[in-house]
Amino acid sequence: MTHTTKQLVLSPALAADMQAVEAQLMHRIQSQSELITAAGQHIIGSGGKRLRAMLALVAAQLGTYTLKDTLHAASAVELIHAASLVHDDLIDDADRRRGRITVHTKWDQGVALMVGDYLFALAAGEMALAPDPRVIQIFSEAVMTISASELHPVLVTTPIETALEQYYAKIGGKTAALFEAATAAGMVCGRGTPEQIKALAQYGYDIGLAFQIVDDILDFISDEATLGKPAGNDLREGTITLPLIYAVSQGSSNGLAMLFEGDELTAEQVAHTIQQVEQLGGIELSIAEARRVAERGLAALDVFPPSPAKDMLIEIVDYVLDRHF
Ligand code: IPE
Ligand code: IPE
Ligand code: MG
Ligand code: MG
Repeated sequence: MTHTTKQLVLSPALAADMQAVEAQLMHRIQSQSELITAAGQHIIGSGGKRLRAMLALVAAQLGTYTLKDTLHAASAVELIHAASLVHDDLIDDADRRRGRITVHTKWDQGVALMVGDYLFALAAGEMALAPDPRVIQIFSEAVMTISASELHPVLVTTPIETALEQYYAKIGGKTAALFEAATAAGMVCGRGTPEQIKALAQYGYDIGLAFQIVDDILDFISDEATLGKPAGNDLREGTITLPLIYAVSQGSSNGLAMLFEGDELTAEQVAHTIQQVEQLGGIELSIAEARRVAERGLAALDVFPPSPAKDMLIEIVDYVLDRHF
C-alpha cells in the first residue's frame, strides 16, 4: 500500500450521471416525518464514496447504457448500503461514520433501527422502477445475505483453514454480496447476456472481498481522522479479521489468540495487538491476499472486449487496493 491516496478520475459523462444519482438520493430521503428526513439526510447527505452506485453505472456501460435505465438500480444500491451502515454502526457500537456522529449516537437506537428500515423500503421502491424485474431479485437476495452474515461471527483464529473459511463466509455475505449485486444489476440494466451478467457478478464479488479486506487492514493501520469512522474498533469489539488471523498463524506462542478469548480489549491491549499484528506480517499478508482476490475479479472481465467502461472497471480495482479511507 502506498501513502498517496489513489483518486478515481471520472469522465465528464460519468461525473454527470453520478450527480444524477446524488440528486435522486437526496430527493428520495424527503419524508413526511421530520425525524426520518433529518436522520436520513444525516447519513445520505454525509456522502461516502458512492462506489456501489458507480459500479452499477459502469457495469451497465459494458452493455447498452442509458442513465434512465440504470439510475434506479444505482440509487437502490446506495440506499441499501446506507441502511446497512446505520444498522451496522448500531451493532458495532461505532460513534462516527463518514466524519459525522452516527445516527444511533445523535438520536437513539430506535431512530437508527427505523431509519435503516425506511432506507431499505426506499430502496425497494427504487429498484421496482428498474426496467427488469431481475433487479429486484438480485437486490432482495443481497439484503437477505447481508442481514444473515452480519450476525455470523468469525469464532476462531486457529486452525487457519477454519478461520479463513469463517472469515470469507462473513465478508462474502456482508460486503461482497452487495458489490456483486451492484455490478450484476447494472449489467441487467445494460441488457447483458446471462454470460455477461455472470462475469460482472464475479468481478463485483471479488472486488467486494478485496474492498472488505482493505477495510479490515485500515482498521488496524489508519486513524479516525482519515477514515471518518473509528479505527481499532474491530479489535476493541473482539471482531476477528484477516490481519489478526494471519498474524496468529505466524507464531503459535505469541499470545494473540488467547488475548482474544477474554472480554473487550482495553486501549493498551488494542495498541499492543496492532503492533504485534504488524510485526508478525499480518498486514503485509492481508494486502497480498486482497491483491490476489482482486486479480481473480479482474480476470472475470476477460470476456469483454476493450472499451472505456472496461478500463474504468480496471481503474476501480486499483482504487480499491490503494484506497486509504
Ligand atoms: C463501508 O463501506 C462498509 C464496508 C463494507 C467496509 P464504504 O467504505 O464504501 O463506505 P462509504 O459509503 O464510502 O462511506
Ligand atoms: C462492513 O463491515 C459493514 C457492512 C457491510 C454494513 P464493517 O463493520 O467493517 O464496516 P465499517 O468498518 O463499520 O464501515
Ligand atoms: Mg462496522
Ligand atoms: Mg470496518
